Amino acid sequence: MPHHRSLAPPAQRNSDQPAIHAELRHHYDALYDLLLNGRAPRDARPALDVGSGDGLALTAITQGTPLHGVAIDTMSLEQWLGPSDWSVVRADAQRLPFADAAFNSALMIDVFEWLRHPITTLSEIARVTAGPILIVQTDWAGLWFQADEAEIGRDLVRAFTRGAPEQLRGQISDSAEAAGLTVESVSNVSINAERLELGSLAWDVLESIRRYLVIDSAQVRARRFDHWRAELQRAADQRQFSMLIRRIVALLQPPASG
Ligand SMILES: C[S@@+](CC[C@H](N)C(=O)[O-])C[C@H]1O[C@@H](n2cnc3c(N)ncnc32)[C@H](O)[C@@H]1O
Repeated sequence: MPHHRSLAPPAQRNSDQPAIHAELRHHYDALYDLLLNGRAPRDARPALDVGSGDGLALTAITQGTPLHGVAIDTMSLEQWLGPSDWSVVRADAQRLPFADAAFNSALMIDVFEWLRHPITTLSEIARVTAGPILIVQTDWAGLWFQADEAEIGRDLVRAFTRGAPEQLRGQISDSAEAAGLTVESVSNVSINAERLELGSLAWDVLESIRRYLVIDSAQVRARRFDHWRAELQRAADQRQFSMLIRRIVALLQPPASG
């Protein structure tokens, strides 16, 4: 299954420090605070990051904080760009190689939509976690680009987001409850991006869409994509551009930790 849909900064960015998109900085800070849930960082660690990918999203959330723990993914994590004080383990979240209550927090960013057995997976994460579990999933079905007053490129965006879960908020809450977890909070976060320049969030999302549609799946001709992209750029140059991204953010509590 391709894992092209992520809000993490691109890995190929040329710098020692992975660049965090300016548009997401407050969002990442809020995620960190939510995960701590009023605790001191030392009480929140070790933490478990489920489905880390190359670790850039984890870096964006934990950079400069004393939170550390273990990052797991089913894919090989050879190209680790995540925080250097985290351990990296290749494992499937459906069967975690850790003792009960080994962690004091867990987080899972943009992985929910890939889970084949969400209830089993959430139960397994709950087994190894004695503290809050933060689930963040971009609601790709709500991805939206506007130029001037009009929504444009809807069919291209649809092709990119195909297969993304609908009714995401309900799916997350229902799976969590079926896994015996308490849903402490669940919210819709809207991220609005109005800049379209190198290094901006919208620029990188458009790069991902292009890579997937034109190169990886070859379902859209480059010329067609580039025409749309140019139209968005023209609008941005006239301050008439916006991109909207929605994310579902859920904080779950395993049974014992109330
Ligand atoms: C879209 S990427 C998200 C990576 C990162 N968390 C981020 O936000 O950029 C999804 C990741 O979840 C991993 N994944 C999917 N199912 C998994 C499972 N059952 N156990 C562990 N990792 C899984 C994939 O290998 C992939 O690296």
